[in-house]
Amino acid sequence: MKAAYWALVAAAAFPAIASAHEAGDVIVRVGTATVRPTEGSDNVLGLGSFNINNNTQMGLTLGYMFTDNIGMELLAATPFQHKIGLKSTGTIAEVKQLPPSLMAQYYFGDKRDKLRPYLGLGINYTTFYDTNFNQTGRDAGLSDLSVKDSWGVATQAGLDYNLDDNWLINMSVWWMDIDTEVKFKAGGEQQNINTRIDPWVFMFGVGYRF
Ligand code: NI
Repeated sequence: MKAAYWALVAAAAFPAIASAHEAGDVIVRVGTATVRPTEGSDNVLGLGSFNINNNTQMGLTLGYMFTDNIGMELLAATPFQHKIGLKSTGTIAEVKQLPPSLMAQYYFGDKRDKLRPYLGLGINYTTFYDTNFNQTGRDAGLSDLSVKDSWGVATQAGLDYNLDDNWLINMSVWWMDIDTEVKFKAGGEQQNINTRIDPWVFMFGVGYRF
């Protein structure tokens, strides 16, 4: 009786104490995801290394909390589209890629905290497709472009700001180890160019917790 009374008083006095980010929660986050490559490559036909531009798409993550502090997250996005070029030629090709990543995460703080910073470590798989030389590339005698899929480590740091029991604002930054081989023919001669993409990925969005 007395315990129940005090529980009621506590519930009335601290209505802001909402459970957030606790064991068993599913968290869906959606927002903009910007891929910013820190690229470099072998010398391409004596013209220097590849440039790869930034691209922004819609990012979607699906998370699950095993405990109040340990979670797991899967990153998905609409396909990123990048221009590949050389300093002296400008853009010569375009490529699409999807970089799904699976992360193990640690969330700092308490389940009642409004701010929940977190760190993650996981694995990235990146698949490239729709790889095509543009007119400039074709005019230069380039053909048969393909880009090898990549497996690598992914790391992340993020911050959730809980607005209420369900909604949150999220920002996160990822670093992914993406290395690949760009293969093509130049005047009929096979070229295999080791290429580093190793992008930073910035995500800003909202989340909903079930
Ligand atoms: Ni790398």
